[in-house]
Amino acid sequence: MAVHEVAESRSTHGQAHAASANSITIDGLALTFANGHIGLQSTHLHVPGGQFCTLLGPSGSGKTTLLRAIAGLAKPTAGRILIGSTDVTGLDVQARNIGFVFQNYALFPHMNVAENIEYPLKLHKWSEADRAVRVKEILDLIELPHAGRRMVGELSGGQQQRVAIGRALAYRPALLLLDEPMGALDRRLRQQLGADLREIQQRAGITAVYVTHDQEEAFILSDRIAIMAGGVIQQYAAPSELYFRPRTRFVADFLGEANLVEVTAPLVATASGFEATTAYGPIRVEAADRPEGASKPTLVVRPEDIVLTRDGAERDGHVRPIPVEIVRELFLGSRCLVTARAPTGQEFRVECAKSRPTHGDAGFWISWAHSAAVLVDE
Ligand SMILES: Nc1ncnc2c1ncn2[C@@H]1O[C@H](COP(=O)(O)OP(=O)(O)OP(=O)(O)O)[C@@H](O)[C@H]1O
Ligand SMILES: [Mg+2]
Repeated sequence: MAVHEVAESRSTHGQAHAASANSITIDGLALTFANGHIGLQSTHLHVPGGQFCTLLGPSGSGKTTLLRAIAGLAKPTAGRILIGSTDVTGLDVQARNIGFVFQNYALFPHMNVAENIEYPLKLHKWSEADRAVRVKEILDLIELPHAGRRMVGELSGGQQQRVAIGRALAYRPALLLLDEPMGALDRRLRQQLGADLREIQQRAGITAVYVTHDQEEAFILSDRIAIMAGGVIQQYAAPSELYFRPRTRFVADFLGEANLVEVTAPLVATASGFEATTAYGPIRVEAADRPEGASKPTLVVRPEDIVLTRDGAERDGHVRPIPVEIVRELFLGSRCLVTARAPTGQEFRVECAKSRPTHGDAGFWISWAHSAAVLVDE
């Protein structure tokens, strides 16, 4: 378990989090399946009320399992789940006041749109008059005010998705859980619906936990993102912090492109931070960038932080230029992604502006500002 997670768990146990009515606190949650497979390992997570949290991670990393545990659909082996300051670990699904939207949005095809939205209100025994008012409100909220009488099959995928979100919101859950709700939709529609969802969530003041495979979507929608791998949350932070200050190799590599530079000797403390020995000479790193207790530090440099030059001249505050050979270029429209091979054999990904280098050419150098490199742990 990463060190920061321990710190996070302490603050959870110490109840340092202000437990607003609809905050979610996952406290040491573990889940082992009947076949012995470990789905979640001692997981800690705090989502403040009204925030949008995204679970991001590779297939099989435990995202759905965590969502199901929060919903009450999967029973944890250890740990607690709190909504506000109420321990809901032992409560039934229905008692948790949670709305769900799953990938196969499972609207009832034999019901029209209004009946779909009304269905959970009936389950919750709302009066007929209250139901009618609420269905109209929801239809307005999801911007389908005139679609109440239409059958589900007569709607587009995106419209059905909005109905599914509306249905989940109808009885005013404090919490909304969404498991890849837009997985089946095309990119444009996802963007539009993502923006809609965010607006609906903020307007209603709901706490949302969202699962996606799409990093860009996660960056755009989320207050905070939890990066999961192997049933563990590797890092939980705001999108920009995850990108610029990843704590582990995995997080750095998983989010966007990362160049990893091995540190070949123990770090040496300097007045302003650390000096890391690498195959490319010593590289200075700011003290704040060192993960606490890093056992096997690695340097991360983002492609956009690497400067490609033809002259190899040393620059102030930059690492000594490394001679490279260009092995590949990907033209991406507004920018160009170049693969440059150093004498060590390591291939660096370098992002360039429009002007493209010549393929197969040697006579290039790469360099980056010392301050651009971040130290991460194993
Ligand atoms: N009922 C089950 N019994 C045993 N193992 C399970 C069960 N459900 C899930 N798993 C396993 O637990 C791990 C986590 O599954 P989970 O569905 O949470 O992954 P995920 O992160 O949602 O993946 P995906 O992105 O593919 O949806 C996987 O290795 C999966 O095979
Ligand atoms: Mg899943």
